[in-house]
Amino acid sequence: MKKWYAVIGDPIAQSSSPRMHDAWLEQLDLDATYVPIHIREGELNEGFESMKRLGASGWNVTVPHKEAIVPLLDRIDPLAQRMQAVNTVVIEDGAYVGYNTDGIGFVRSLQEAYPEHEKGNVLLIGAGGAAKGIAFAMQQEGYASLTVANRSVERADALARALGNGARSCTLEEAERQFDTFDVVVQTTSVGMNFATAGTPLPVTRVKEGAVVADIIYNPLETEFLRQAKRAGARTLNGLGMFVHQGAESFEKWTGIRPDTKSMIQRLTDELGGTTC
Ligand code: ATR
Repeated sequence: MKKWYAVIGDPIAQSSSPRMHDAWLEQLDLDATYVPIHIREGELNEGFESMKRLGASGWNVTVPHKEAIVPLLDRIDPLAQRMQAVNTVVIEDGAYVGYNTDGIGFVRSLQEAYPEHEKGNVLLIGAGGAAKGIAFAMQQEGYASLTVANRSVERADALARALGNGARSCTLEEAERQFDTFDVVVQTTSVGMNFATAGTPLPVTRVKEGAVVADIIYNPLETEFLRQAKRAGARTLNGLGMFVHQGAESFEKWTGIRPDTKSMIQRLTDELGGTTC
């Protein structure tokens, strides 16, 4: 029987994951397909049972189900367990196992775009679900000095405490003052995504020499935050690489094959009408 993979969420029609995964499946000549499945909030239990009954070979999980799916799974990978959020379900010897590839997707994207970057001091802007995933993954991958800055500083404090190992928290104003002490800066808030949230969470005027400034937003490809960082001399990275690499990590877990990320980033960049990084 032809295998099928999916992404479940609400809304789901706008997702670029089916196009990306279908392109990889075709490139690699695998007899499988990847479909978007609309499962409403509060209907995850029935949805999960249907996925099992209909024989999905694995699936991605997006908003609003990433946390709610955790108790339904047979096992959870340690990183996803720490985050209490799952974006990938893999079937291992009949067991439904939850992983989270979002944070590691960001790290792989950073490593692919700037293999020589300094791991030194990292600033994370934001303390929500996205920041959490990236922070835990960066810590796992050897980024030892993490600072979390957030509008509501209590959330930054809570994330820094959960991270442990000397992670610090600060206000956005403090982060702005110390901006040029960071080697890697990651903007994880929704600020800059559209007209309703135009602008930047903090202004970028001075950056450390050689620093990489990343934004996890990829539509628009260049946020105001990245524009300011570029003007201040930073090397920049938009969120498309994170999107492609989180997908590549899932794809590899399902098929055992690492798909081509670089050409996919280029292809999606062209579709969004921009240039890479
Ligand atoms: P996600 O899962 O995408 O991270 P989230 O958990 O709702 O979403 O977190 C959103 C993040 O964006 C938070 O860090 C939030 O700051 P608060 O914790 O203070 O709410 C941040 N954020 C949203 N709008 C913002 C704004 N206008 N200025 C600064 N930060 C903002």
